[in-house]
Amino acid sequence: MRVLVTGHQGYLGSVMVPVLRAHGHSVTGLDSGLFADCILGAPPDDPPTLRLDIREVTASHLAGFDAVIHLAALSNDPLGYLEPRITYEINHAASVRLARCAKVAGVRRFLYASTCSVYGAAGSEPVDENAPLRPLTPYAESKVRVEDDVAAIADSGFSPVFLRNATAFGFSPRLRADIVLNNLVGFAVLTGEVRVLSDGTPWRPLVHAQDIAEAFARCLVVPAEAIHCHAFNIGSEANNRTVAEIARAVVDTVPDSKLLITGEHGSDPRSYRVDFSAARTELDFEANWSIADGAAELYEQYTLAGLTAEDFGERFTRLARLEMLRRTGSLDESMRRVTSAA
Ligand SMILES: NC(=O)c1ccc[n+]([C@@H]2O[C@H](COP(=O)([O-])OP(=O)(O)OC[C@H]3O[C@@H](n4cnc5c(N)ncnc54)[C@H](O)[C@@H]3O)[C@@H](O)[C@H]2O)c1
Repeated sequence: MRVLVTGHQGYLGSVMVPVLRAHGHSVTGLDSGLFADCILGAPPDDPPTLRLDIREVTASHLAGFDAVIHLAALSNDPLGYLEPRITYEINHAASVRLARCAKVAGVRRFLYASTCSVYGAAGSEPVDENAPLRPLTPYAESKVRVEDDVAAIADSGFSPVFLRNATAFGFSPRLRADIVLNNLVGFAVLTGEVRVLSDGTPWRPLVHAQDIAEAFARCLVVPAEAIHCHAFNIGSEANNRTVAEIARAVVDTVPDSKLLITGEHGSDPRSYRVDFSAARTELDFEANWSIADGAAELYEQYTLAGLTAEDFGERFTRLARLEMLRRTGSLDESMRRVTSAA
């Protein structure tokens, strides 16, 4: 299949591209390159790339592809708070426009990276895809709006599917240090402390980036009826854990590290346990990576690559990186890349 992946030079995209290629797909990437040079260890083998902001995409960019996998976004809650208007502009408006362009261009499948955080404060009973959506942040709200608006344009020739991913973990050559397991392992390696700033009680389902990539790969090949306008939670019940449990797994992995639950940020209202059975039955997808294995992988890769505190807090932290790009004039107020006049 000819597949266009937006956001392929991000954390998930850099893991997904080789997985899609290994499944025999021909991959092209589209990315504005915000984190293209934020690499830990060996550089990834990027596919042919359209260096483009998704706000500038037209149908002609998408002609000839069988499927679009849409990952490009301002990708977490702190970023959404930084600039809610721009989060909605990129994550909602431009994503819906991208889907319309894909439909006009004759692309038959549109695979969208949604999130389990659309469930918001869901308590401790596991939620399935029919549970009420209670997004608590502009980031999560933007994901809900895309699901609604893109489902509305589905027809017999255009099948969108919404993969509500749990919080990702695991090594990617374009590392993110601002997601919980990656963060806790890094902090432990650099300081000897596994430091939890909340009270540790929120439920936070996790899934390895490789497993997310395999779930998207399944959605390319199952019959279109199996995905048409469906949402799927992507993760595993075994990785439905509280933040304190995740932190204990890190202490068990990083030699001589100590657990510190400071509680200084109080209790985090974003808490949800998730039912992942629909993806098992409808997509024949099973997430394989445990949190313990992911922590061990991260520990090994961080030590191998000689991770530094400076890189951890800046290059690999999305919010800090974007603030730096704006401060130094590489990005304008609207988060567009500034190209110097020749
Ligand atoms: N990582 C997670 O835990 C997680 C969980 C659930 C859902 N998701 C979703 O998966 C997707 C990928 O997440 P990630 O962790 O890889 O994020 P990331 O920040 O590492 O990557 C996002 C990529 O999108 C690109 N991008 C951003 N704005 C763009 C624009 N206007 N035009 C073109 N490219 C643009 C960036 O350059 C970057 O390469 C996002 O949509 C995110 O919301 C991620």
